[in-house]
Amino acid sequence: MTTIQWFPGHMAKARREAVEKLKLVDIIVELVDARLPYSSRNPIIDDIVGQKPRVMVLNKTDLADIKQTNEWTTYFKHRHLQVVPISAKDGKGIKDIQDTLKELMSEKMAKLKARGLKNRPIRLMILGIPNVGKSTLINRFIKKNKAETGNKPGVTKGQQWLKLGDEFELLDTPGILWPKFEDQDIGKKLALTGAIKDTILHQEDIALYAIDFFARYYPERLKKMYGLQDEHLNLSNSDLLIKITERLGLKEEYDKASDKLIHDVRQGKLGKYTLDFVHEVGEK
Ligand code: G4P
Repeated sequence: MTTIQWFPGHMAKARREAVEKLKLVDIIVELVDARLPYSSRNPIIDDIVGQKPRVMVLNKTDLADIKQTNEWTTYFKHRHLQVVPISAKDGKGIKDIQDTLKELMSEKMAKLKARGLKNRPIRLMILGIPNVGKSTLINRFIKKNKAETGNKPGVTKGQQWLKLGDEFELLDTPGILWPKFEDQDIGKKLALTGAIKDTILHQEDIALYAIDFFARYYPERLKKMYGLQDEHLNLSNSDLLIKITERLGLKEEYDKASDKLIHDVRQGKLGKYTLDFVHEVGEK
């Protein structure tokens, strides 16, 4: 888990580093959290990436609402982005990324070949905000390559390239960019999913956000998880937190109850969910 305080100086540095790395690669893998396909994107990513080919990867689909993942996939495709839903943790979709990368690069590689240059690997880097799964994905790429070739991925000393078979070279450190800080709701979404951990937001406010979301969209799950009755769902969010605290046997320890609820949501104990809706943020 990466913890970074994003002060303006750090943002400028992160931007500079990302732009430097970008110069070294043919194509970018932009990694976002499938539960937050809008909120977990860096606000200036389009500006940084420019015209460079890019594959957008929705990670952690094992935790996200499948219907919404499909809606977001369509949404980005309409905006001319190649999208690949994956679960880096389970190793699902890794081949799809590689196939998409090859497809996107086929023309450029063919041109290079026509000019007499011999086939060279496609150079790529992974870019995203902290905790979207960049390191997990890098490890998956390495494992996949190991499984297919029986070799260890070659790492040349003093260079930062991981060789993935003959076809790819991956920059071994991902580009890290800062999350959106546009409004409180985005902050709460990022905090609830664990994208930002040390947050200026109070745990109770994050828990109340979760209660509001689940009471609205998945009331049955909330009832089942915390032994609530139908009539409890008419309570205000703060009264519901009081009720849940009671049900957890925590007396008036609302902080503890909030922590437990946030943990449950992050672990997927309240089921799969996606906090960003296409219709809410799609046009922003
Ligand atoms: P980063 O490099 O982008 O900062 O992210 P990293 O790979 O470290 O992943 C952050 C957390 O997300 C890790 O949890 C990792 O296991 C989890 N993760 C990554 N990909 C997936 C996925 O596809 N599905 C699920 N469910 N989780 C995924 P962690 O090591 O347990 O850290 P913590 O956040 O629990 O402290």
